[in-house]
Amino acid sequence: MMILGTAFGMVFYLLQVVSGESGYAQNGDFDDAELDDYPFSCYSQLEVDGSQHLLTCTFDDTDVNSTNLEFEICGALLDVKCLTFNKMQEMYFIRTKKFLLIGDSEICVKLKGKKITCRKMNVVKIVKPEAPFDIRVIYREGANDFLVTFNTSHLQKKYVKELLHEVAYRQEKHENDWMHVNLSSTKLALLQRKLQPDAMYEIKVRSIPNHDYFEGFWSEWSPSFHFRTPEITELNLLCGPVSRIIRRLWNNFARNQKR
Ligand SMILES: *[C@@H]1O[C@H](CO)[C@@H](O)[C@H](O)[C@H]1NC(C)=O
Ligand SMILES: *[C@@H]1O[C@H](CO)[C@@H](O)[C@H](O)[C@H]1NC(C)=O
Ligand SMILES: *[C@@H]1O[C@H](CO)[C@@H](O)[C@H](O)[C@H]1NC(C)=O
Repeated sequence: MMILGTAFGMVFYLLQVVSGESGYAQNGDFDDAELDDYPFSCYSQLEVDGSQHLLTCTFDDTDVNSTNLEFEICGALLDVKCLTFNKMQEMYFIRTKKFLLIGDSEICVKLKGKKITCRKMNVVKIVKPEAPFDIRVIYREGANDFLVTFNTSHLQKKYVKELLHEVAYRQEKHENDWMHVNLSSTKLALLQRKLQPDAMYEIKVRSIPNHDYFEGFWSEWSPSFHFRTPEITELNLLCGPVSRIIRRLWNNFARNQKR
């Protein structure tokens, strides 16, 4: 296969040199196209539409004239050998239930039915999760913290269930000063003393497969949630520690009573 490919490449190169043309010149339409150089990227989203999976590919170079270019995936499919992508503007996509989810596929760019560049890809290793949503922050006065919760459609999925989430938050007036926290659950407590009092904060979250079987890329960020931290009043400052001390004393007292 290797040898054949190399031989073909050499013959082709000779043809090019002899004819003095660059690129694909069979009918003059593609004089400027560089045949072996259509880098592209793909990602999969499993069970996005009920049990249907989505596979999306785009050319890395957004200036590629893709008018006559097609994408095809072969191998590791159920029932069929190959599937052709649909095209929407500069995106190529397949919505299907036919991914085997085991083993490599070959994804190829085709020009007039001829494969011109191919890459081996495993659909389960290029997973881009759906963005989490519904991120909220509730202030818990007694605990002196903020409870952050969010939701993800992956809780309801059969395949990509294990995700790592990255929560990012910043004080709104410090635009580029994002703080980050990684977690695998959808709940997080932020300590009040780690945040500025009486300040506006922005918070958002994104997800990536957590390397169990599925691997891949970060999701888009969730929509942001905005919240204001409470002012620190003297009452807060005093009552926090004081009420803790009283509680501790009371607990000790109650325990002693039981003995
Ligand atoms: C892209 O290629 C097609 C077919 O060769 C041609 O008709 C079209 O004008 C090209 N578009 C651009 C923007 O170059
Ligand atoms: C998360 O969202 C799903 C719908 O996508 C909903 O059924 C579920 O109740 C939500 N969970 C929470 C904890 O809000
Ligand atoms: C969170 O996890 C990602 C991916 O593993 C890693 O690149 C990043 O450094 C981690 N961030 C923190 C704050 O631990």
